[in-house]
Amino acid sequence: MNYRHAFHAGNSADVVKHSLLIALVRALQQKQSALTLIDTHAGCGLYDLIGDQAQRTGEAAQGVLRALADPNPLLDDYRAAVQAVNKDAEPRLYPGSPQVLAQLLRPQDFLILNEKHPEDAAALRSVMRDTPAAVHQRDAYELWLALTPPRTPRGVVVVDPPYEKTDERERITTTLAAVHRKWAHGVTVIWYPLKDRATHERRKDQLRKLGIGKFLCVEHWLYDSEQPGIYNGAGLHIVNPPYAFTEALPPLLEALRTALAPEGHRGKLAADWLG
Ligand SMILES: C[S@@+](CC[C@H](N)C(=O)[O-])C[C@H]1O[C@@H](n2cnc3c(N)ncnc32)[C@H](O)[C@@H]1O
Repeated sequence: MNYRHAFHAGNSADVVKHSLLIALVRALQQKQSALTLIDTHAGCGLYDLIGDQAQRTGEAAQGVLRALADPNPLLDDYRAAVQAVNKDAEPRLYPGSPQVLAQLLRPQDFLILNEKHPEDAAALRSVMRDTPAAVHQRDAYELWLALTPPRTPRGVVVVDPPYEKTDERERITTTLAAVHRKWAHGVTVIWYPLKDRATHERRKDQLRKLGIGKFLCVEHWLYDSEQPGIYNGAGLHIVNPPYAFTEALPPLLEALRTALAPEGHRGKLAADWLG
């Protein structure tokens, strides 16, 4: 396990992922019944934006710093989540998904966090100690299968792997299929990087074959044409998104696209149903 999210915290993918997680959970919270939020690949929970690791890549400049400088009110909830972990207007810290999700909890909701890397799991425990979150250090796929369906009537599973292992997509597909068989109405969010369109289309074909009914694909292509061999953007697969979320999605995606478009590119950020 070499991947460390501290190098990438607050990049454009984090801005889209965390903005959509906020919108999704808020949409589910329009109903009073309790929610369990499960973050299978939680990372450290909180990141130093001016620390050595973040400074080495400078990715936050193209992500969170752009979103904070953007005037669009549709990004207010995301900006508030970042400001909540910072004392000054100039952000020094970046909230990972555990902190973003913890901020959304109502008294009736539960948060389960999981991180396998020993150092990151220890950091996560420390960062989350004043929250009601339960922290595990297990294999993400074993935990996803073991803890679903949750005890509450509704739940969301967030799957955000580093994709450093060749069998990552296969493990996601197998686990998603097994979980869907026993929890067909569960909401699941799966993050993935976009490298090239052909690989991505093949992946969508594989997922289509699972026959999961409500399956939304959100894709963020940063550049106007595919850039060979590099990171071209990121996507989220969302199983069973609530209606209030999908209704509110188009203007939010447009606000994010505008805020994050690289110099000289319009990019594309859109949602489509799979199949
Ligand atoms: C992309 S980062 C998570 C970022 C976090 N979700 C956020 O948005 O702030 C992926 C994390 O998954 C962890 N990880 C990798 N393989 C894992 C596995 N099989 N089980 C649990 N955690 C794993 C890595 O150590 C890393 O911290």
